[in-house]
Amino acid sequence: MKTILAIFSSLNGTQGNSSKLANDYLSKIESDESVQINRVDVASLALPHLTSEEMQAWMTEASERDESQQALAKISDDIVETVKAADEIILAVPMYNFGIPSSLKAYFDRIARAGITFKYTETGPVGLLENKSATVFAARGGVYAGSDFDTQTPYLKHFLNFIGISDIQFVYAEGLNMGEEQANKAFADASEKIIELTND
Ligand SMILES: Cc1cc2nc3c(=O)[nH]c(=O)nc-3n(C[C@H](O)[C@H](O)[C@H](O)COP(=O)(O)O)c2cc1C
Repeated sequence: MKTILAIFSSLNGTQGNSSKLANDYLSKIESDESVQINRVDVASLALPHLTSEEMQAWMTEASERDESQQALAKISDDIVETVKAADEIILAVPMYNFGIPSSLKAYFDRIARAGITFKYTETGPVGLLENKSATVFAARGGVYAGSDFDTQTPYLKHFLNFIGISDIQFVYAEGLNMGEEQANKAFADASEKIIELTND
């Protein structure tokens, strides 16, 4: 059984362009009975910013945590378990104000756990998640891929590498707010790439 964790982050739910791209990909593989898809919508999850209290809870031995710390640690523990259980991670990522959605950042903040998903060594950090791949579906109003203004691609690669995921594919739909013709072309190109990926 292959487990896929699909993480959505559009403010527009299933109508979001990034959600539509990711769901196009998922629709091509979900009939396969050997594939199980878990969906998480971090926009509706509405995790708060990471706090000092929450980090403190992580650093307190599980047996020593008080009731409030147990609840705080559980937020990240549950997310990490979901990520660990996945063979492939799908990220549906809109560009909002030149970066990833803050809801997705809040989710990532619960995934990066020293000693659990990465460790520090004398030669630098080492990711502890093994044998996972990731596919990113990026939707943008403007055009950024390959330019210095694409903050998302290097950030996502770096974050995923940091926790041990280096097999990463990107599908872009760009210029979606630059007129109908450009938007149609962007979706057609993304759709072709999705067909390529699902035929692999
Ligand atoms: C709050 C907000 C901020 C945005 N900021 C940017 C931006 O910085 N750059 C850009 O190219 N498009 C920007 N857009 C346009 C979105 O990237 C575009 O509509 C994309 O399709 C959103 O993905 P979604 O439909 O999955 O939410 C922004 C849209 C919103 C709602």
